[in-house]
Amino acid sequence: MHPLWQQKKLREFCVQKGIHISAYSPLGALGVFWGTDKVLEAEEIKRIAQSMGKSRAQVCLRWAFQQGVSFVPKSFNKERLKENMEIFDWCLSVEDMEKLSLLPQERLVLVHALVSPTSFYKSHADFWDGEV
Ligand SMILES: NC(=O)c1ccc[n+]([C@@H]2O[C@H](COP(=O)([O-])OP(=O)(O)OC[C@H]3O[C@@H](n4cnc5c(N)ncnc54)[C@H](OP(=O)(O)O)[C@@H]3O)[C@@H](O)[C@H]2O)c1
Repeated sequence: MHPLWQQKKLREFCVQKGIHISAYSPLGALGVFWGTDKVLEAEEIKRIAQSMGKSRAQVCLRWAFQQGVSFVPKSFNKERLKENMEIFDWCLSVEDMEKLSLLPQERLVLVHALVSPTSFYKSHADFWDGEV
């Protein structure tokens, strides 16, 4: 889960059922085969980061935190690890949260490996719940 793959329908279901959500790949997972730079390069995220004096990664993590979602960011860099923990003493405005909620959505994981004529999931429509 990240700002470009918000999975609102799934999250609403989890809230109703009392299921806690933890977001893996909350920054878009750049560097692994399913990853993308689209999250950290999104113009709206850049704009908010600049206006708040925060990094783009911090905006993504704070966005998740403000919705009660925990997250598992990965970094091999000591400074970025520290940066990723410095999101608890400031907040995104209601307006910026609203703008982030309107970002165009795109699935990070396409599950091609799970969909086949012989699988339980015969098509992507079988696998997904109708929401991007
Ligand atoms: N259970 C599952 O099915 C599952 C699936 C996917 C991932 N995960 C786990 O979730 C965790 C995170 O996922 P992920 O690695 O896929 O994605 P991620 O945390 O969204 O992205 C990691 C990428 O972001 C960079 N990064 C981290 N902090 C940054 C910052 N402050 N500014 C700029 N770039 C930053 C990292 O580079 P640097 O290292 O160079 O900082 C790396 O390229 C991992 O522990 C992974 O094992 C679990």
